[in-house]
Amino acid sequence: MKNSFARAIHLRDYRAPAWWVDTVDLDVSIADDGSTEVTARLAVRRNAAVPAQVLALDGEELELLGLAVDGRPLPAPASFIRDGRLELADLPEQCTLETRVRIQPDRNTTLSGLYRSRDGYFTQCEAEGFRRITWFPDRPDVMSRYTVTLHADRTRFPELLANGNLVASGDEAGGRHWARWVDPFPKPCYLFAMVAAKLDRLDDRYTTASGRAVDLAIYVEPGKLDQCGFAMHALKKSMRWDERRFGLELDLDRYMIVAVGDFNMGAMENKGLNIFNTKYVLARPDIATDVDYMNIDRVVAHEYFHNWTGNRVTCRDWFQLSLKEGLTVFRDQEYGSDEYSRAVQRIQEVRGLRAAQFPEDAGPMAHPVRPASYEEINNFYTATVYEKGAEVVRMIHTLLGEDGFQRGMKLYFQRHDGQAVTCDDFVSAMQDASGVDLTQFRRWYEQAGTPRVNAETSFDAALGRWTLTLSQSNPETAYEKRLKEEGLSFPRGPLHIPVALGLLDADGREVLPTTVLSLTDTTQTFTFDLSQCGLKAAPLPSLLRNFSAPVALDFECDDRALATLMAHDKDEFNRWEAGQRLATRLMLAQVAQLQAGREALVPPLFVEAFAAVLAQSDADPAFAAEALTLPSEAWLGDQMAIIDPDAIHAVRRLFRRTLAERLRGPFEQVMARMSAPGPYAPEPAAMGRRALRNLALGYLMALDDSAVQLRALSQFREADNMTDQFAAFSLLAHSETPLREVVLNEFLARWKDEALVVDKWLSVQATSPLPDTRARVRELMAHPAFDLKNPNKVYALVRTFCAANPLHFHAADGSGYAYAAGVIRELDPVNPQVASRVARAFDRWKRFDEGRQGHARKALESIRDLPGLSADVAEVVGRALA
Ligand code: TRP
Ligand code: ZN
Repeated sequence: MKNSFARAIHLRDYRAPAWWVDTVDLDVSIADDGSTEVTARLAVRRNAAVPAQVLALDGEELELLGLAVDGRPLPAPASFIRDGRLELADLPEQCTLETRVRIQPDRNTTLSGLYRSRDGYFTQCEAEGFRRITWFPDRPDVMSRYTVTLHADRTRFPELLANGNLVASGDEAGGRHWARWVDPFPKPCYLFAMVAAKLDRLDDRYTTASGRAVDLAIYVEPGKLDQCGFAMHALKKSMRWDERRFGLELDLDRYMIVAVGDFNMGAMENKGLNIFNTKYVLARPDIATDVDYMNIDRVVAHEYFHNWTGNRVTCRDWFQLSLKEGLTVFRDQEYGSDEYSRAVQRIQEVRGLRAAQFPEDAGPMAHPVRPASYEEINNFYTATVYEKGAEVVRMIHTLLGEDGFQRGMKLYFQRHDGQAVTCDDFVSAMQDASGVDLTQFRRWYEQAGTPRVNAETSFDAALGRWTLTLSQSNPETAYEKRLKEEGLSFPRGPLHIPVALGLLDADGREVLPTTVLSLTDTTQTFTFDLSQCGLKAAPLPSLLRNFSAPVALDFECDDRALATLMAHDKDEFNRWEAGQRLATRLMLAQVAQLQAGREALVPPLFVEAFAAVLAQSDADPAFAAEALTLPSEAWLGDQMAIIDPDAIHAVRRLFRRTLAERLRGPFEQVMARMSAPGPYAPEPAAMGRRALRNLALGYLMALDDSAVQLRALSQFREADNMTDQFAAFSLLAHSETPLREVVLNEFLARWKDEALVVDKWLSVQATSPLPDTRARVRELMAHPAFDLKNPNKVYALVRTFCAANPLHFHAADGSGYAYAAGVIRELDPVNPQVASRVARAFDRWKRFDEGRQGHARKALESIRDLPGLSADVAEVVGRALA
């Protein structure tokens, strides 16, 4: 049993499994009342490489009905259960173990294991859900070949699906039918999947690079076939891309995607049978925004790429999660960069990293890309493992170059295809294939925290010699503090940081193209002979181009230099970065003004720099939309010693309004120039134009001008696509105008039958800056559109409020915290994984003033004291309070 006293699991305790399971023969029979019998025949074999041990199988919520070894039933099966595990001693070296259990998917609200969603049955086994289906050594280094036979009512569940190939099917008594599936590839049990449901199917075919024809299918809730064309298109694009860029081809004859409305995460890469949250499959121009289309493209690609990076080569243990996730995120990022604008993708990745991963590293849940311990593995599907993990892979790519990296990937598959391996194995393959020494680089996997890199420069004009001194410091995080308290030592030292550098002269001309420096010491000086460049003054460095490492860079740079970089840097990422730096600095200065009781204002220099970007926005609308977006309230708060959400909100509002006042004409012109010719298409150029136009509308709406509001209303009513409709809708719903209620009502009336659009309706209300927001969010939980059992609804309303509305979540009276704690307590017994994700909203609580801290502590304690609290939430709350 899991409980709040679950002990931490440590990487150093890893032992190879004592028993292998070569084959698994599963028979799953779903009765009309949902009760399900699972018979598992496991061909087990002792691992001769380790000392003999009992065979211990994991199980949760299983009613054990029978147990047999080599066909001989064992009496009193329940007597073999010890501490929640099924233990069998004195087995022959090799035998067949048969277990028979009953499970209750209709009552399974955790959405882990086998569960019911509407009128069908679905599974989610990563990380440890398979043990909720049958007794099994539920660990990724035990790989087996699966044969699965499913039985259910033919009319209610016409589709019976599992991994691999359908080998036989037929009818049986009582209007039931059966289907048998064989997966030719050995796999860890977390990749097992099955579905029994009534679904519509979109079929397609794909011919691989080597000429093999493959069947593709996307299964969706009946009536939604017209919403899966884009996902299919994305799947075929991903397949082609992986062949071209990585030389990797699909290894199956059949590849299926099933969409389900109740799902804890985005999607799951089960071998040959991906299961997706509907959010990442269903799209039609009138119901999905450009952002939705982009996300679908990326998630479909991500799960497909896992077939090689995750499934063919999998993780030895869950500490190695980033082996598959960091690498696969890197691959889906590269796919996105090759398909859309590379610079814009990079900007969005970094914005995401700073919004989620940097604060994670600075908070109570800090952990390295490869953690050394955890209490509940589901809590480690984090921004650090995914996004920082991808940054670590990207740095390897930067150090090795595309050719070296591809040689590394080849060697990785040559060595480890069909194996369960470690992050170290991956780095070794990269090192051995390229000859680049990655010994020191490995520390990135072991050390938590966002390193700070400080840069200082000097210029000897007479000699034309420029020097750059870089130093790094790696802050101790909550993670190291905890390890220390446990008496554990750990290596810490300088990291190997690739710093991409370019140099510009005072007019913005590039005098040194991008060069990658390796910062490996605590402090290091790099000297450049620029005597040939004819420089009269010191050059302007463009540091950390393309964000070459996930670090915080400290570099003194005056406003004028930033404006030059903003206008001229050849590195588009750094052009954006210079603007963000300038905005951050100026906005924080105004926050300080407000706090000192003085009036805040927007410096003219900023309006000018902003106007310059706006004037050039036609050249690359998607980039301009990024460059014209002010730093978020959360980011500004993260830069402060004590976060002041009210002052930050006021300053950001003032900046938006002032920019709109000063630049009304240019914004109006942008709106006119960016109007969309022709019907909607989710294509990069058109997406960029819509993004820029709606950004301009957003600024104009800051004017509180009724003419602009009416323009937004007609866009809301007349748009032929959700991108434009939603942009106008959210702006109006966040404005103090009678039109607010009008659009909220019209939107819901129009879309009440489209669950994913209703989610948008909820999240818009959760992000509102208007004063009644918290009360409304609470009321909405009683609205028929809300459902505590559905993760998408909880994420759309509750998590959005807690994580994306700092003004109201961090309200000084503690009302936001008390509300969140109440929901977490209610949700914990229903779905601990989702409850735990909501609880992460408290990560920053110690960054606020004492009054807020007092309220947050009380809220956290009320969760901690809940009887029977899940291990998931206990770990998050326990760390927050520690
Ligand atoms: N492996 C999945 C992915 O990254 C993540 C995932 C899906 C997951 N469902 C989950 C992780 C449930 C934990 C629990 O693509
Ligand atoms: Zn993944």
